[in-house]
Amino acid sequence: MPTLHVNGKIVTHDADPDTPLLWVLRDHLNLTGTKYGCGVAQCGACTVLVDGVATRTCVLPVSSVGAAQKITTIEGLSPDGQHPVQKAWVALDVPQCGFCQSGMILAAVSLLKQKPKPTDADIDTAMTNICRCGTYNRVRAAIKVVAQGGDPKVASLNIEHRGATAPRQG
Ligand code: FES
Ligand code: FES
Repeated sequence: MPTLHVNGKIVTHDADPDTPLLWVLRDHLNLTGTKYGCGVAQCGACTVLVDGVATRTCVLPVSSVGAAQKITTIEGLSPDGQHPVQKAWVALDVPQCGFCQSGMILAAVSLLKQKPKPTDADIDTAMTNICRCGTYNRVRAAIKVVAQGGDPKVASLNIEHRGATAPRQG
């Protein structure tokens, strides 16, 4: 029976080899924190970490993930929700409906691992996840809080509303 390394445990499943990893996680392993959005690797809702790298799982055949590769889902990011990114997310009230947020958080974790002090351009490049609730500004602010190792209560006052239009005159 095929095996995967998920959230620190070796697990088995009986899915067909071409089944996307997303559905093995959700339907076979009951890890439903990973979400289905677009199904075509565009929205990022299905993002998990594979060996620390943000990976969209809706088009990734489970057979392409080796048994030794470490998969981390939102359930396995920390035992108690106290990962620095999760703490910043809570402190800045990032989520709205929450549907996209597992993917957002894991994409941010991956970014901060590769670039602990990301620039706005780095964030723009890495954070291509789609949020129907428009949490982009707070996502950016929370990433900066983690990068700066600062106090979220202070940083939350400095949310940058990128792309906002100027008030109309007259
Ligand atoms: S569901 Fe995978 S990227 Fe949208
Ligand atoms: S918080 Fe609702 S889709 Fe992002």
